Amino acid sequence: MSVAVITGSSGLVGSKAARFMQSKGMSVVGIDNHLREQFFGSDGSTRRITERLLHDLTDYRHYEIDVCDRDGIEGVFAHYGKAITMVIHAAAQPSHDWASQNPLTDFSINATGTLVLLEAVRRYCPGAVFIFTSTNKVYGDAPNRLPLIEMETRWEISPEHPYATHGIDEGLSIDQSMHSVFGASKLSADIMTQEYGRYFDIKTAVFRCGCITGPAQAGAELHGFLSYLIKCALTGRPYIINGYSGKQVRDIMHAFDLVHAFWHFYQSPQTGAVYNLGGSRKNNCSVLEAIRDVEALSGHKLQWSLSEQARIGDHIWWISDLRKFQQDYPGWSLQYDLKTTMTELIESIINSADPFAFDSPP
Ligand SMILES: NC(=O)c1ccc[n+]([C@@H]2O[C@H](COP(=O)([O-])OP(=O)(O)OC[C@H]3O[C@@H](n4cnc5c(N)ncnc54)[C@H](O)[C@@H]3O)[C@@H](O)[C@H]2O)c1
Repeated sequence: MSVAVITGSSGLVGSKAARFMQSKGMSVVGIDNHLREQFFGSDGSTRRITERLLHDLTDYRHYEIDVCDRDGIEGVFAHYGKAITMVIHAAAQPSHDWASQNPLTDFSINATGTLVLLEAVRRYCPGAVFIFTSTNKVYGDAPNRLPLIEMETRWEISPEHPYATHGIDEGLSIDQSMHSVFGASKLSADIMTQEYGRYFDIKTAVFRCGCITGPAQAGAELHGFLSYLIKCALTGRPYIINGYSGKQVRDIMHAFDLVHAFWHFYQSPQTGAVYNLGGSRKNNCSVLEAIRDVEALSGHKLQWSLSEQARIGDHIWWISDLRKFQQDYPGWSLQYDLKTTMTELIESIINSADPFAFDSPP
């Protein structure tokens, strides 16, 4: 039996990965200590997802261990040893704002926690595939230096620029830009994951994601913008847009499409691979456009206001170029469009007894 170890297994990406890998016949070991609740309060709690996984999956074991706890992590890896063929590392402190108030904790979770896991793989299951969920924030605010044009509802890149047709590729510099504390801790982990690939010959991949979402997201004010925006629209809670006139553009990817990409990589792995992955030119919107579409799809008006203050280092325009991954894995393509993703989120929140207490569907 092949074992998939999934950290952050109660979060959006981790829980989707746990269900997916089980459906592929893998035995799943989840590691999550529910820190999201401490980061974001009850809006961000993922405890119920753990309960759902334990209830729904026949071959799922859960360990409430901190990824920074070296002895605890080594204990799990020593126990399963070479039966572990896949590690998906999706546990993280995911918010810029939280990181800037707690830099030491943010760094130890995002950077040191990743190193603890890489080292456990090297010692106990060096043949395993290691997948790290990185972020487009590793490029810092470099995308803000692109030639951007303000349109009526969004920022857009100049049509003459090479990124105009397909979005931003992996060649953009990760150096000498404002990353935010969060971006810097993720970048440290990103580079260390590449290094364990190149230096130690472990099959590692870094996926630098745009916005990921799905019904299993415990969207909170500080993280999970689309999920949180929809909860606000459906419940009448006021929503604040942070800067850029609400015209900042994000590309949106359903967690299924990301996890599906992990599966393709696992079947034909490489060492030290790096990919940008997100909604691409196909699935993207500005915050204003998201509000317009959510209001049209849900029939609910969002009470929103604009704060002039943008988040430090926040992107004005981000669209991921998927071509590198698609060239390496031509069997993979995006299955979800933005409207379907939004509709799924709206329905899951309507069906939830208390959207902010969060009762996650699969
Ligand atoms: N959601 C997005 O839009 C997005 C975008 C880019 C990158 N990413 C990255 O993808 C990964 C997964 O994101 P997500 O949206 O699923 O996040 P999430 O917050 O929904 O899930 C992360 C899980 O990790 C757990 N966790 C946090 N610290 C931990 C620790 N020290 N030990 C054990 N468990 C811990 C949390 O309790 C939570 O359940 C993260 O690395 C994130 O940085 C996410």
